Amino acid sequence: MNQKQSQAEPPTLSGQVSSALLNNYSRYNVEFIRGKGAYLFDNSGREYLDFLSGIAVTGFGHSHPAILKDVKEQIENIWHTSNLFQSSGQEILAGKLAEQSGLGYVFFCNSGTEANEAAIKFVRKWGNGRSTIITALGGFHGRTFGSLSASGQYKLWDGFFPLTPGFVYVPYDDFEAIENSINHDTAAIMIEPIQGESGIIVPSDNYLKKLKEICDKNNLLLVVDEVQSGMGRTGKMFAHQWEEIKPDIITLAKGIANGLPLGAVICANEVAECITPGSHGSTFGGNPVAITAANSVIDLLTEDQLAYIFIIGKKLKNEIRNIHHPLIKDVRGKGLMIGVEFNEPTNAKEVALKLLEEGVVVGTSGDRVIRILPPFIITEEEITKFMLVFSSILNNLEG
Ligand SMILES: Cc1ncc(COP(=O)(O)O)c(C=O)c1O
Repeated sequence: MNQKQSQAEPPTLSGQVSSALLNNYSRYNVEFIRGKGAYLFDNSGREYLDFLSGIAVTGFGHSHPAILKDVKEQIENIWHTSNLFQSSGQEILAGKLAEQSGLGYVFFCNSGTEANEAAIKFVRKWGNGRSTIITALGGFHGRTFGSLSASGQYKLWDGFFPLTPGFVYVPYDDFEAIENSINHDTAAIMIEPIQGESGIIVPSDNYLKKLKEICDKNNLLLVVDEVQSGMGRTGKMFAHQWEEIKPDIITLAKGIANGLPLGAVICANEVAECITPGSHGSTFGGNPVAITAANSVIDLLTEDQLAYIFIIGKKLKNEIRNIHHPLIKDVRGKGLMIGVEFNEPTNAKEVALKLLEEGVVVGTSGDRVIRILPPFIITEEEITKFMLVFSSILNNLEG
């Protein structure tokens, strides 16, 4: 994409560097050392268009001036105190999240899995003896034991048995299976509004609305995992707001602080009432620097910005659809949470690697889906850049 790019060695997948790092990730052989807006730069100065945003994290791109200014100021003042003391930053952010969600109370932690762990504990406390949570096959809620056990995917569990008890798995988007699974011990349904890690699986219209009705009828909590779909990614602050419902618990992380570690659990009053000092906690949760970033992020997510995310996402999705490429089976998603599924035998990882070699970063999901999660600040020009590279790669694959 720039002059230096053509001189740089193309990145390869097989570039695993021998080091003391635990071998739990399969990493591309490229290191980004700088970022600006929608662009990343590697250690040779090569420029890459970032259509992954650190897996739905850096929604406002890299080094956003407003976020950077606030974070710099905060880090110069103080970067850790502890939850033994007052935190006006946490109070302000909790107030904004409560206002946006229509729910009353917020707990801060550091990540998506921690937010879901907390949500599972809160469900059990509220359930007061009832403890079973119904979750979806193909769901992803995190890697620690509670959220791992909530994630309905055998491949994630393999080697880690026994799981945390208290979860029942049903096919995603199947109401009958949910209704048939409810018994005297059921306390909640826990669900992603769009399954992210499983390949941007969008349920049928009014899915969450119907789940909420089932919950209300059976006195269950509806826990919505918005770790990936929340904080503007689909063009609403939270994806469930497309269905105008109010869940009982919302979990957040990823994009909430544009890359600084923060997670949050927003709870309805009846859940919050069950929580008392000592019920749950975190040393780092709600760290002042991450909270400052999150306060900037939520202020940047104005109605206009959310509308832009939806419109630009639709444009990107339509452009991909309109190439009518024979290798593409499906293009789906909402806002800037887009999945492109390929026909067999096209390998998504191969496509992602070729994109990377051409200076475009995307993610994958399984063997057939690439995940496109650009920052909210992308322009039409950047979409055109992406489309040129993407189409030419598909055409070459075809040949
Ligand atoms: C829907 C959802 N929930 C939870 C998680 C786990 O978040 P974290 O990796 O921050 O623990 C993820 C991560 O991809 C996710 O997509």
